[in-house]
Amino acid sequence: MMKLHLRIATCLAAWAAASVYAQSPAERFVDSLMAQMSWEEKIGQLNLPSVGFDVTGPMLSTGVEEKMKQGLVGGVFNTFTPVAVRKLQDFALEHHPHHIPLLFGYDVIHGHRTILPIPLGQAASWNLHLIELGANMAAREAAADGLNWTFSPMVDIARDPRWGRVSEGAGEDPWLGSRIAEAMVKGYQMPQMQSHYSLGYPQSIMACVKHFALYGGAEAGRDYNTVDMSPYRMENDYFPPYKAAVQAGVGTAMTSFNDVNGMPATCNSFLLKDVLRKEWGFDGMVVTDYTAINELMFHGMGNGAEVAKRALLAGAEMDMVGELYLTHGDSLRKVHPEVGVAIESACRNILLAKFRLGLFEDPYRAWKEADSEVIMSAEHKELAKVSAMESMVLLKNENRVLPLNSAQKIAFIGPQVKRRRDMIGNWSGAGDWTQSRSLWDAVESWDNVSYALGCNLVQDAAMMDQLNPHGAQLSLDERSSEALIKEAVKLAKKADVVVLALGEPYGMSGEAASRSSLTLHDQQQALLEAMAATGKPVVLVLMNGRPLCLSEADGSCNAILEAWFPGTMGGDAIAALLSGEQSPSGHLTMTFPRNEGQIPIYYNHRNTGRPFDAQQKYTSKYLDVSNRPLYAFGHGLSYADYSLSNLVCERVGSELHVSYDLTRSYEGYGGPASQVTQLYLHDVNSNMTRPVLELKGFDKRDLMPGQTQTIHLVVSRNEWGYFNSDRHWVMEPGEFEVSVGFSSDQRPLQTTVVLD
Ligand code: NOJ
Repeated sequence: MMKLHLRIATCLAAWAAASVYAQSPAERFVDSLMAQMSWEEKIGQLNLPSVGFDVTGPMLSTGVEEKMKQGLVGGVFNTFTPVAVRKLQDFALEHHPHHIPLLFGYDVIHGHRTILPIPLGQAASWNLHLIELGANMAAREAAADGLNWTFSPMVDIARDPRWGRVSEGAGEDPWLGSRIAEAMVKGYQMPQMQSHYSLGYPQSIMACVKHFALYGGAEAGRDYNTVDMSPYRMENDYFPPYKAAVQAGVGTAMTSFNDVNGMPATCNSFLLKDVLRKEWGFDGMVVTDYTAINELMFHGMGNGAEVAKRALLAGAEMDMVGELYLTHGDSLRKVHPEVGVAIESACRNILLAKFRLGLFEDPYRAWKEADSEVIMSAEHKELAKVSAMESMVLLKNENRVLPLNSAQKIAFIGPQVKRRRDMIGNWSGAGDWTQSRSLWDAVESWDNVSYALGCNLVQDAAMMDQLNPHGAQLSLDERSSEALIKEAVKLAKKADVVVLALGEPYGMSGEAASRSSLTLHDQQQALLEAMAATGKPVVLVLMNGRPLCLSEADGSCNAILEAWFPGTMGGDAIAALLSGEQSPSGHLTMTFPRNEGQIPIYYNHRNTGRPFDAQQKYTSKYLDVSNRPLYAFGHGLSYADYSLSNLVCERVGSELHVSYDLTRSYEGYGGPASQVTQLYLHDVNSNMTRPVLELKGFDKRDLMPGQTQTIHLVVSRNEWGYFNSDRHWVMEPGEFEVSVGFSSDQRPLQTTVVLD
């Protein structure tokens, strides 16, 4: 008996020693800190109020300083600038019983002070390195402004352009979305710069992958709406970018507002525990979206205490603004021991995040005077210009009306010619729109240019009333539409070419900005038609945050340049492309429908049993519109001409090696141009219906006129497997079609291979 006791004691000691040994320094530190903390203080770490300069949700936090004094705040968001942050951090450190530093978060979405194109635009650059550099730039500026955490990247796959938040993501493709998610996490967190603390490099910031999960699947494209989705679609089409961000080491994840198959994401343990933690191995911290726990009450999940319990038990750790954990956490844990366990675990993960950021050693991270020099620096503005140029997509260029030539008399017409506000788009963080460059700022010094407004950007008073309180800066020119158009026509008639800048004001896309009609509004369309009627070539430059329905507009112009909301240097970037200083090189990452009735429309759809056949009545089609989009995924023209040849596919070990030649023609445009080529697979024969096409690789490169280069792409074996309807990963040997082209609907190189 004695011996047995001895053996157990020795085992326990060994286990204790081993577990201490197995713990990382971070875990040891956090455990010893938590051993000294009261329950109230632990629950306090779970509280994330909004204080400061920006309002990004429907309700404001109150009494924050008072709560800080009691150690009831884990972090804040919407406060920045070194002065404001230092003041708050000092206050927190001084008053917190254990001097625990705060996290400082903010929506640094596409740049911080220097603003880059909206994420949908950056994705259209198909330039992962540039996207990473952009996130890097944003991180440096944000860190110099006292921040240590961004609520980005937003990686929600979206197939419905009515949803305003498509502007914040990378579009419809899971594979490209995954690569972009990785690039952004790397760009913000800078793993290559980290040493002692895994997120501690003072110019980096912690990233947050959002909105987990499936927020982009909202029914009818209406923000915050219900999501109902098969496991098959979830796994293959919507999960990959979140998973890629986790695998890239993202520090935090944000729950989404929507429900998923009847269970809100914020109290969904399948999503937050089974998938995120167990299956993907996420070891960071989970924050809710703005008051998302409180909103569980509207979802019908119970009263305040009940929803707090549900969210805690499901694994939602930090409560953004709602304060339901603060209100109910302590009484809940007294009755439900499992709630206590959840609070401990959430607090541990929040403190671990702070440890990884190095905040316990340097709560201010290294803010030096010199740091602020990076903000809006010449290098950052140059990067913003390059990023904007690469993001723009030339949708159409009839008769090569673009590039313009310097001898032409150019009439710049339209409400977007002079506006600076919309340049930086929605979620433009701490960006100062007054410092952004409008198209007119960039071209007014050109010879032979003239300007007319042509029409109001928004004509509808009710719409203006919705947008203006949120900073849209919209005003009405009181002249009649006819008078505005008349003035523009007069100007156009004197010019050789008309550049018409139309689109949306920035507030028409982004959060809570769903739309049911995606055409240009009546006066914009009327202006466009009046310009076409002058007989002058018309170049339409569009600024907007989503795919629009452009069938009518397309019929009234010769060229379309999709400029998105292009950021601080947007005007210069548009001007550089119009003048031919550089060729456009962006390609769409989201399909442009012909009309709203085609939505959802996306290139990687599955086939039906009755594929489209114009000669047959009983096939899958509309009577009143084609099945095909107006502009397909991957579409984007260049001023230069290219051809593709010599497709070779080879199996090398577990990989498929694909090579092909890209040639730039001698003729025509001779300026700098890059071209994107895209590689698609199609599983011909499988146990489940598979997409008609799946992007599996791409290349973007510059070629000189007359130059040919061989491009090599490698597709790893995982790329041709998929999750079946039971969520099991399967590899199905057999025939695959391989195609390479300039867009999903223009793939001149095609072959078949057998893969196992
Ligand atoms: C609500 C938005 O859904 C989310 O994307 C954002 O990060 C938070 N508000 C914080 O501003």
